[in-house]
Amino acid sequence: MIRRVAVIVVAGLLAGRDVAAQSDSVARASVLVRAGRLIAVRTGTVLTNQAILIEGDRIKDVGPADAVAAHAPRDARVIDLRNATVLPGLIDCHTHITSDPGDYYKQLFRMSAIDEAVRAHVFAKRTLDAGFTTVRNVGAGEFIDVALRNAINEGAIPGPRMLVSTMPLSATGGHGDVNGMSPYLRFEGFSGIANGVDQIREKIRFEVKYGADLIKVLASAGVLSEEESVGAPQYTQEELNAVVEEAAMWGRKVAAHAHGAEAIKRAVRAGVASVEHGSLIDDEGIRLMKERGTYLVADIYNDDYIIAEYTRLGFPQKIIEKERLVGRQQRENFKKAVQAGVKIAFGTDAGVYPHGWNAKQFAHMVRWGATPLQAIQAATVNAADLLGWADRVGALEPGKFADVIGVVGDPLQDVTVLEHVAFVMKGGQVVKDSLTGGAKAAR
Ligand code: ARG
Repeated sequence: MIRRVAVIVVAGLLAGRDVAAQSDSVARASVLVRAGRLIAVRTGTVLTNQAILIEGDRIKDVGPADAVAAHAPRDARVIDLRNATVLPGLIDCHTHITSDPGDYYKQLFRMSAIDEAVRAHVFAKRTLDAGFTTVRNVGAGEFIDVALRNAINEGAIPGPRMLVSTMPLSATGGHGDVNGMSPYLRFEGFSGIANGVDQIREKIRFEVKYGADLIKVLASAGVLSEEESVGAPQYTQEELNAVVEEAAMWGRKVAAHAHGAEAIKRAVRAGVASVEHGSLIDDEGIRLMKERGTYLVADIYNDDYIIAEYTRLGFPQKIIEKERLVGRQQRENFKKAVQAGVKIAFGTDAGVYPHGWNAKQFAHMVRWGATPLQAIQAATVNAADLLGWADRVGALEPGKFADVIGVVGDPLQDVTVLEHVAFVMKGGQVVKDSLTGGAKAAR
């Protein structure tokens, strides 16, 4: 008995050593990506005939192809993207990656968090294949987002890098509550419902304890919920101040869902990192956001999908009417904010519309006041800054993760080419390649 245990232990140690040796060689493997055109996202400069040298999961060097190739290891694997435009992996700062649009009744009454959990990995893969190598997920049932993030980080399933908020903080009867039902209907399970400063602090501690990377707070009413208003404030200034202060104590940023002008201003004054939606923002709100450096994350593609599909999906007419109230105004106000110089980060609310369609929003951003470069910056450098990950994602620079995408055409001329990302690499691993027909060993 004792001997058997000993054998198992030794075998275990050997297996461990094997794995260590293997991951060591993976960590050292060099890849040279040749890029016909490369967009330096900070400046908007398009550089031709470039190369990216990758070691393990990080970028080691970027520059003119010949210079970079000259000091690349002899055995570096070459990926030939000379016919493509290469950019850093895209970032969506507002996703709900654990759920897809579907029948209202079915999703509310027939599906559980477990149903969502078993499907979520499919949406993660779709998002990654669309060129989004990082997402900030701002609301999921139970702790599905934490589990998904962990499984992706461990390499168990493919998906984007994730920062997750867990359950959005909501007032009773607010956007995060289930409204419009009989008081005898109970929805059980974890929720983000918290009222008053003490409950808010407790809820944030609970969420951080079980894996939240950031805190999402529902500062105003919303569209896809059955309370009456679309933009009315749902937390007091005192409550929002407590959200930001408590989150900061645990090193977490706050993303505030806010459609209405007053809720937006309260959130900005409280010191949130980003205002989500921002639909009915007024001039004072725009001025405050600029002053405080608050990011606007406006999901201005969503309206198209909701108006086209949500009646068919059985959503109450009341909800569709709320969408009609904000859809157009949100776009007009986005334009105002862009023109005023408010910081913009790309966020789509994917999950309200199908995952993998994230890039459809670029064209709307350009139509509503942003240049193609501004739209791309929103989804790269700006997004990375908002996430607090400027040191690791959002640009093709030495030291950052080798998250690289390739498209055919020039997104600075026609931003819709980003809807057809043909090559995706995350952390030095190719996850999608319909460009090269496979990497070549020799240079
Ligand atoms: N999750 C958001 C809400 O329910 C979606 C808003 C969609 N509409 C829009 N115009 N962005 O409030």
